[in-house]
Amino acid sequence: MEYLLGIDIGTSGTKTALFDTAGKLVASKTYEYPMAQPKNGWAEQDPRDWWRAAVQGIRGVLRESGAKPESIRGVGLSGQMHSLVLLDEHDEVLRPAILWCDQRTAAECDEIHETIGKSRLIELTANPALTGFTSGKILWVRRHEPELFKKCRRILLPKDYIRLKLTGEYATEVSDASGMGLLDVPHRRWSDEVLQKLGINQDLLCRVYESPEVTGTVTKRAAEETGLAAGTIVVGGAGDNAAAAVGTGVVTDGKAFATIGTSGVVFAHTDKLSIDPAGRVHTFCCAVPGAWHVMGVTLAAGASLQWFRNQLCGDIIEMAKERQIDPYVLMDQMAEAVPIGAERLLFLPYLMGERTPHLDPDCRGAFVGLSAIHTRAEMIRAVMEGVTYSLRDCAEILREMGVASERIVACGGGSLSPLWRGMLANVLRCEVSTAASREGPALGVALLAGVGAGLYESVPAACEAVIRTESPLRPEAEAAGRYEAYYQVYRSLYPALRDSYAALAKL
Ligand code: XUL
Repeated sequence: MEYLLGIDIGTSGTKTALFDTAGKLVASKTYEYPMAQPKNGWAEQDPRDWWRAAVQGIRGVLRESGAKPESIRGVGLSGQMHSLVLLDEHDEVLRPAILWCDQRTAAECDEIHETIGKSRLIELTANPALTGFTSGKILWVRRHEPELFKKCRRILLPKDYIRLKLTGEYATEVSDASGMGLLDVPHRRWSDEVLQKLGINQDLLCRVYESPEVTGTVTKRAAEETGLAAGTIVVGGAGDNAAAAVGTGVVTDGKAFATIGTSGVVFAHTDKLSIDPAGRVHTFCCAVPGAWHVMGVTLAAGASLQWFRNQLCGDIIEMAKERQIDPYVLMDQMAEAVPIGAERLLFLPYLMGERTPHLDPDCRGAFVGLSAIHTRAEMIRAVMEGVTYSLRDCAEILREMGVASERIVACGGGSLSPLWRGMLANVLRCEVSTAASREGPALGVALLAGVGAGLYESVPAACEAVIRTESPLRPEAEAAGRYEAYYQVYRSLYPALRDSYAALAKL
C-alpha cells in the first residue's frame, strides 16, 4: 500500500492526515495550540507550536496506521494564509507570528496605497492592501520594531515555515504568496515594482512554485524528528482556501464552495482573471496552474461561535464532556429549537473587524434586538444566522462579478452542523452539497502531492478520480423568504454603526 500525507497548519490546530493513493483517509491527528490577543484586534501565535503539532501529528498518523515511512509518496502542506513569520540568520523565529485576523496595520495599508497608488496596486497584485495581508505586517514590524527587523533574513508564511523545517528549503507557492500583497497575481511572480516601492528586499522572500510542483525533500534531520523517510518529496501545497478547493473538487469554472472554519469563505474558481475594482473580495492564484479564484472572507465565522462557547457556555462544555460529545452538538440542538430569526435577534460577526464587504478593521461584533425574553439558545442561533448573512454578503459580490455558482460545496467544522448547512442553502439561495470526505485542505494538499509524485496527471484529474459529493440540500422557498427579511435588516446595520465603530476605536 502507498500513501499521501496532508498537513494543514490551521489557526486552532494542525491537522495531519494520511490517505491512501485513492484519497481514502487512513489516519488523522489534530493538535491544538493557543492564539494570543495582546491587544484588542491583535492576534499572534508561536510558529514553534505549529512545528511541534506537525511533528506530533506525523508521528501519530504513522503510529496509528502502521504505514511504512518509505511508502509515503509525497507530502502536501496547507495552512492559514497571510500570517507573518520572521526568521533570523540561523532560521530562528524572531517574534510571534502576526496572524491573518490581526488588525493592527491600518496605517501601513494607507501608506502602501499612498506609495503605490491604490488602483496601480490592484492592477499589479489584483487586490488592495488589507490589514489581514502580509505586506502591511512587514511594514508594521519595520516601523515599530526596527532593531528586530534588522535581524530578519527571511519572511515566510505558516506552511512554508513547516516546509523549511521539513526540507531546509525556502519555498512558497502561488496561492499563498497571492495573499502577501507582494505577488504579481496575473503573472504569478513577485512584483518587482511593489517590492521596490515598498523597499522590501526580494532576498527576504521565498522562491515561488506552482502548487503541485516538488519544492524539496525531507532532510535526514527532519526524518529523525518526524519519523518520515528522508528523501520524501514535499510539494508546494496551497493556502488553506485554495487547498480546500482541491479537497472539495472546486477546480474548474462554475464551481464554488463555502467554508465555515475559524474564518468563513465563499470561494469560486475562475479560469479567467477576474478582479473586483473595489477590492471587496480577493482574487488569488489557485492551486490549478494557470487559474485563479475569487473569494470573500468573513473573519470570525466559526470563531464567533467558538467565542460564544468559551465565554458563555462553560456548563455546556462540561455536560458535553460527561456525555463524550462535542459541545457544538448540544449548542446546535439548542439553536434548532428556536425559530428562524431567533425571536428578532441579530448578530454582527465582526469580532475581529471585517474584510468582505466592509474592509473595516475597526468594526466589532454586536447583538441587535436583545430582549429580556432571549436565552442563550436564541443567542446561539443569532450567531449562526449572523455568520451566514455575512457569507451571503460575500456571495452577493461574487454574483455581481459573474463568478457565482448555483451550487456550492459546504466545508469546514461549521458544515458538520445540518442546521448551519440548511441556513447556507436558504440564506445564499443555492444548492448546498457536502464533500464525502470531510478532510478539506489536508486532502487537497495530499492530492497535490499525488500530482507532484506523478500519480495523477493534473489537479482536475486527481479531483475527478477522488472527490465525491453527497446529494445537495435545496433552498426552501418559505424559509428562504423569512431569512431574506432578516438579511435585509442585517445589511442595514453596518452602515448605521460605522461612525460609532470609528469613534469607539479612537477612545
Ligand atoms: C483568507 C484568510 C483566512 C485564513 C484562515 O484570506 O485570511 O481564511 O486563511 O486560515
